[in-house]
Order: sequence, then structure tokens, then C-alpha cells
Amino acid sequence: MSDSESAPVRIAITGAAGQIAYSLLFHIADGQVFGPHRRVILQLLEIPPALPALEGTIMELRDCAFPLVDDIVATVDPEVAFRDVNWALLVGSKPRGKGQERKDLIRDNGPIFIGQGKAIGSVAAPDVRILVVGNPCNTNCLIARSHAGNIAAERWFAMTRLDHSRALAQLSHKCDVPARDVKNVTIWGNHSSTLYADVSHATVRGKPAADVIGDDKWISGEFLPTVRQRGAAIIQARGKSSAASAAKAVVDHLRFFLQPSPEGEWTSAAVVSDGSYDIPEGLIASFPVRSTASGWDIVRGLEMNDAARAGIKLSVDELVEERDTVKDLLG
Ligand code: NAD
Ligand code: LMR
Repeated sequence: MSDSESAPVRIAITGAAGQIAYSLLFHIADGQVFGPHRRVILQLLEIPPALPALEGTIMELRDCAFPLVDDIVATVDPEVAFRDVNWALLVGSKPRGKGQERKDLIRDNGPIFIGQGKAIGSVAAPDVRILVVGNPCNTNCLIARSHAGNIAAERWFAMTRLDHSRALAQLSHKCDVPARDVKNVTIWGNHSSTLYADVSHATVRGKPAADVIGDDKWISGEFLPTVRQRGAAIIQARGKSSAASAAKAVVDHLRFFLQPSPEGEWTSAAVVSDGSYDIPEGLIASFPVRSTASGWDIVRGLEMNDAARAGIKLSVDELVEERDTVKDLLG
């Protein structure tokens, strides 16, 4: 069956009147994620005060006359938004302001993911995959999953693809090569200022990145702090958190998991830990992952140096602390 004859993909997007969705919706509707022949149905969730703004976004979506869009549903009811969806993109939640850490949002945003997790568990399609973007995204994903019943562990993701792309971009700039020539950076741990951006297996035009850079001090003293603090730097400069780059990272995350990875290449995504690399089982932590014909795998057996081990521990300790903070929100 050709793509155009198969059933449309149903995608729920929460926070659909917000700034990330304002970019993301148009990429999806244009075929940039599911392909130029795959029809889509957009199921958009908002809270009541944001419905007028959502109506405006929908007017613009309709005005694009996208040939691939079969239907657009706008609702405040999670059971309507998540009904039969193949992908649930959980963006809706409050962004942080200047001077805040993402984990400062936990008590405001965490509760949102209880009802949404329950609704996904009861009405989504059997093949649903969930990507949590709303911050703190690792722990929000943990909350949603704990309320969603038996959806398989491999269907849950929190987004560290933006951090991954930021790391690629910094290396590309430093080495004066296009970003496509940089491979196999890894973001480990939390989407937070403790993340560990690991270049020890990264390559630039096929050569070890560390050799091409030739400046270990730059890696620890500039590269790592820049990647860790990039979200805060954007808030400082724009007065609002990243939006277009976040939407592009969602697109990149989805596209990555919709096709097998080229041999030997990986991306970063926060997934349910199976205990690999001593990261406690069940935490939603960022790992190097490869997409396969039947799903995805954590990249196993990478040698870890002392800096990586210490960096990962710092971030994993923070994830454990966040999990403890939301104990009462877990199902
Ligand atoms: P925004 O404030 O522009 O939009 C958020 C939208 O969510 C609003 O329209 C709001 O009405 C809606 N919303 C709030 N509660 C909701 C609920 N219960 N159900 C449905 N919708 C709800 O924010 P934004 O810039 O789009 O960012 C959204 C989230 O994504 C923030 O938490 C932000 O920190 C996070 N973020 C994560 C990453 C990442 O890499 N993981 C990157 C950028 C932003
Ligand atoms: C980002 O990384 O840009 C987002 O998580 C927004 C933020 O609060 O930094």
C-alpha cells in the first residue's frame, strides 16, 4: 500500500497555542516528519484560556491549504486529544523564566502529566509513542508513564535532541565544518544544566573529534558549559525560551525514530533506563540510541572515561532527586 492510501497518522500536540507548537505544527502539516505522501490528523490540546489563540493558529494552518492534512481537532479534553493517536507530543506546560532552573517548574508542570498519562493509557492507539518536551521533561515523562498503564517502556521518550543538536552545532563551528560532518556526540542524563555532553566517541569527517579540536581545555571549559547553559542563554537574549529550534528538534527526534539509523550512527534521547551504564532502571535518562528496523536500542559497550563517568553520575543524581520530589505525583 502506498503512503497516500494508508490510514493517516494521528498526532496529538499539547500546548498547541504555544510558541513551540506555532512552529512544530507547520512542519508536521507540511510532511517534514511523516513524509511527503503521508496524510495526518492533528489533535490539538489546550487549556480553556488559550482556546482563542489556538483558534488563530488553526486559522493559519487552514490558510496554508496543506494537502496532507485530513483533519484538525481542537479540544480541552485529553480523552478527545489522545483518542487513537499514534504519536503524543506533550509540549503543553509552563516555560521557565530568567534565573530559574527547569526543575523549578516541577510542582507547577508535574501535575499536568498525571491526567495526560491516564488519558494516553486509556484512549491512544496500541502503537502510540510519546515524546515529552514540557519541562522538566525527563521527570514529566516519568510521571506520565507511571499513570499510563501498560504502554511498553520503549514507547516513551523525553527530548534531549535539542541538546544533541546544540552540541553538534558547537563542534561544527569550532572545527569549521558543516554540522552534517559531525557524528556521534552523546547527551547523557537530564535535560538540565547537569547534562553531560560527551565528545569522546564523536567524529569530525570520520576522525576523532578530540584530535581534530586538539584543545581539551576548550571541551571542558567552553563546549560543555555552553551546551549546558544554552537554554538559559536563549532566555536571557530573547526574553523567551527557545521555540523554533525546539520545534526543529522535535522534528529531528521523530524522523530519527521513523527510519533505521545509518550504520554506526546514533542520536541522543531520554528513554526508560534498562540499567545500562549503571543508570538506575526506570529513570528517564538520556542515552546514545540507534533506530533499528523494528524499534531502537541503546548503543552498548561504549568505553567511558573518568570525566564521562563523573558527569553522568552528577546528572543521574539530579534525576533521582527530581524523582523523589515528585513521589506523590507518581502512579
Ligand atoms: P508556551 O508558554 O509558549 O506554550 C505552552 C502552552 O501550553 C500554552 O499555550 C499553554 O496554554 C499550554 N498549556 C499549559 N497547560 C496545559 C495543559 N494542561 N494542557 C495543554 N496545554 C497546556 O511555551 P513553549 O515555549 O511552547 O514551551 C513549552 C514547554 O516546552 C515549556 O515547558 C518549555 O520549557 C519546554 N521546552 C522544552 C525543550 C526541550 O528541549 N525539552 C525545549 C524548549 C522548550
Ligand atoms: C531549552 O533547552 O531551550 C528549553 O528546555 C527551554 C529552557 O528552559 O531552557
